[in-house]
Amino acid sequence: MKVLSSFCFGLSALSLAQSGHGAPRQGTGFNPNVNDWEISGAMLSVPRSRIAGAAAGSKAIFAGGYLDNDTYVDTVDIYDRTTGQWSTDKLPTVRSEIGSGSFGGRYALFAGGMDSNFAPLSIVDVYDTQTGKWSQFNLTVPRGAPRIVDLGDRAAIVGGLSGDLNYLSKTIDFVDLNFRVTSMEQPVFRPQFGLPMSDPNTGFGIVTSNYQNNDPGNRFNDFQGSPQTTLFNVVSNSVNVTRGADFPSPRFSVGGAGTNGIFAVGGGQVFGQDDSSDDSGPSARVDLFCQDRLEWCGTLQLAEPRTFPNSHQLGGRYVVFAGGDGSKVFDVLDTNTRQWVSHSPNIQLHTLRTGATSVSIDGCVILVGGGLVYQGANSTASVEIFNACTA
Ligand SMILES: *[C@@H]1O[C@H](CO)[C@@H](O)[C@H](O)[C@H]1NC(C)=O
Ligand SMILES: *[C@@H]1O[C@H](CO)[C@@H](O)[C@H](O)[C@H]1NC(C)=O
Ligand SMILES: *[C@@H]1O[C@H](CO)[C@@H](O)[C@H](O)[C@H]1NC(C)=O
Ligand SMILES: *[C@@H]1O[C@H](CO)[C@@H](O)[C@H](O)[C@H]1NC(C)=O
Repeated sequence: MKVLSSFCFGLSALSLAQSGHGAPRQGTGFNPNVNDWEISGAMLSVPRSRIAGAAAGSKAIFAGGYLDNDTYVDTVDIYDRTTGQWSTDKLPTVRSEIGSGSFGGRYALFAGGMDSNFAPLSIVDVYDTQTGKWSQFNLTVPRGAPRIVDLGDRAAIVGGLSGDLNYLSKTIDFVDLNFRVTSMEQPVFRPQFGLPMSDPNTGFGIVTSNYQNNDPGNRFNDFQGSPQTTLFNVVSNSVNVTRGADFPSPRFSVGGAGTNGIFAVGGGQVFGQDDSSDDSGPSARVDLFCQDRLEWCGTLQLAEPRTFPNSHQLGGRYVVFAGGDGSKVFDVLDTNTRQWVSHSPNIQLHTLRTGATSVSIDGCVILVGGGLVYQGANSTASVEIFNACTA
């Protein structure tokens, strides 16, 4: 059994994994030849780690995050890929453990979080990338670090830290383009902190793996790798939420993304049986899910093991694992052939960092920013930009 004390260390890291799912826009091209990618750098206005990141429209938004003295900030840095310009703003509500994602090709969501007493919050701050204006709505149940599944014309805001003895929430809130919220319970046996992935173009999403609480409601939680899979499928004007096939190799701190009918979950770490000293170290394993058969349908290996891989879809056809905690390597998967088109050492991050935030814009630009460097001693302001857009 894993008790909370041994788990606290992992919490901060576990709650930050986010993938931006930039739906490719009309006219946006993508060059799969990594040798042609334009690589550049930029600096955030404040060095920090564990930033809530999202991309929508042509913009990437880096909101909040932690300073080296472990206080969190309201700073927001915004990058516009069409102009190459950076600007700053302020997060309307300062807090920790913010869940981030986007939907509608336009709205960036900064959902829930924890206040300074580690009580969960219901606030969702919405940044409209078309107007640059903030608005707000509330979750039906307050929670920290909820998982966001972009289903195109709506988002599912799934689970998160509940702040009670169940530790993890089973609530799903759906938000539509009018910010109307409807709610249901996630069809899982054990409350789960899963990895969210989706293809907003087909309105299909998956929450799977990471960890679950096998002993909810008791003073000591029992966190284990989770095999549970929840599927989201927009059918006419509603969302069909069902239990999916069990994840074959439960691991926490995985990353993943999907496009073109293939969802790839990679990296992470297997839970130890008794305490963290049993952990077997980071994994290089990648599991593939086939949207047509609704099955886990293959495995691959990353060039290097890593936790929290920076994972995005590219060009409506490729999935990239762009470094992560413990690795600088980019692994680029062609979902048509299910072969790697780039493996070490073709393209890499310049700086090895942990607790970084990565987002992708329009399925052709990846930004990896912030995080901790010098063996976790100092946070950095640096952002690495990998541009593979042809338009
Ligand atoms: C943390 O660091 C920031 C920036 O240096 C500073 O403004 C703030 O007062 C510090 N907070 C604490 C609690 O030390
Ligand atoms: C959200 O909840 C907060 C605190 O409960 C409340 O002050 C606020 O008015 C609510 N916002 C909306 C848009 O309902
Ligand atoms: C909902 O999805 C399941 C598969 O997960 C499928 O078997 C079922 O037919 C779907 N229901 C509707 C109404 O589309
Ligand atoms: C890293 O942080 C330490 C302690 O806060 C500080 O003394 C040192 O100057 C920092 N190093 C760099 C390169 O910023």
